[in-house]
Amino acid sequence: MKRVYVEDFEKHAGEEVEVRGWLYNMRSSGKILFLQVRDGSGYVQCVVSKYDLDEEAFEQAKALTQETSLIIRGKLRADKRAPGGYEINVTELEKIGDSIDYPITKKEHGDAFLLDHRHLWLRSAKQHALLRIRHELISAFRDFYNNRGFINFDSPIFTPNAVEGTTTLFSTEYFDTTAYLAQSGQLYGEAGAMAHGKIYTFGPTFRAEKSKTRRHLTEFWMLEPEVAFINFEELQELSEDMIMYGIERVLERRRPELETLERDISKLEAVKKPFPRIDYHKCADILEQYAKDHPGEEGSDFVRGDDFGAKHETIVAEPYDSPVIITRFPASFKAFYMKRDPEDNDLVLGMDMIAPEGYGEIIGGSIREDDYETILKRVREHDLPEEMFQWYLDLRKYGSVPHGGFGLGFERTVTWIAGRKHLREAIPFPRMMYRLNP
Ligand code: 4AD
Repeated sequence: MKRVYVEDFEKHAGEEVEVRGWLYNMRSSGKILFLQVRDGSGYVQCVVSKYDLDEEAFEQAKALTQETSLIIRGKLRADKRAPGGYEINVTELEKIGDSIDYPITKKEHGDAFLLDHRHLWLRSAKQHALLRIRHELISAFRDFYNNRGFINFDSPIFTPNAVEGTTTLFSTEYFDTTAYLAQSGQLYGEAGAMAHGKIYTFGPTFRAEKSKTRRHLTEFWMLEPEVAFINFEELQELSEDMIMYGIERVLERRRPELETLERDISKLEAVKKPFPRIDYHKCADILEQYAKDHPGEEGSDFVRGDDFGAKHETIVAEPYDSPVIITRFPASFKAFYMKRDPEDNDLVLGMDMIAPEGYGEIIGGSIREDDYETILKRVREHDLPEEMFQWYLDLRKYGSVPHGGFGLGFERTVTWIAGRKHLREAIPFPRMMYRLNP
């Protein structure tokens, strides 16, 4: 008998098959048991009839508990009425591993309980669907860059210095010195772009965010393209094309998962190029108007010249179905490496992408300062350890070129596309201020 995965059933209708998996759920109508079995690739309804098994085997089947592992054999039938469209008439059932008192049941569980049981929660239908969407987006984004001739360039996690400010750095002993966990792969990506022309880094990044919001993890994955000779408009277009590619791929290949998650698919279908571009001062106009119209309300506290809070981003992005690209921020609150706007030296050629439906910032990026003297000045102004940045300064010394890139917060993007509330479900084992376990 042939071992078959649920996702390949189409090729095996009418055959005798073997499925190996776990019992997800069971209903009984006296003489017939309906076992919902999951094999990792999908779910199948297995019908166990008193007339097909001997009495002892039937009684054994009846006593199976949730998440018992088992092997089932029987005839695979296409059946429109069955959930998933297929059913197996079980002729043999072999128990592999018991599962006594499985902690996650059909009743509602609290967030803390589920997070404590994340190692098991991963098996639940929604979590299963969500992590398959994550997988799809990883492969889509990699394909997107690989198809365009980008080189995957892995940046280190142990680093000697900060990239995005010193307040969110994790430090760790490193023999007789201190190492910091990478906040971003960007600086190394810049070296990669000078070697390969266009690269992307994709790996875990770390921020000691003492923030308990649903948008922050302490360990999250960032996808960071970096391109030599790119200009500001081309950079924005790259970010837009990448997002469109990811959404189209998920819509094409992961509709059942989106449905399991009860995602409003029309919202994803409404995302279209070109995404609106709004510069910082235009956003400030919008927020000042909002404050006049909504005195005292959340978001009415914006001060021109300051960075946006999450609520401000939502107000600006609210009228649009597609993500909004905010450009040209004041240099005062942006990173040292951002190139100044040639038309206004107080601004930088920086861009943030704000996802629709209130999901907030998913991308941050910029054109990089490429002049040696200027970047040296910025390193000093930002009080960065100059000796640690010698190698980075070298990139401006030997054949410097205009270049830029951005970082996509991967879990924020998954959370938006899958329509979930909190980032913590978009990664197998979330790390947050109060969570290091399991
Ligand atoms: O805007 P950020 O800080 O940009 C950088 O790190 C640049 N060096 C990237 C580059 O230009 N190559 O972070 C990029 C994105 C944010 O837009 C956000 O989506 C995500 O990373 N992000 C977080 N995601 C989850 N938890 C956190 N604590 C995050 N902090 C940033």
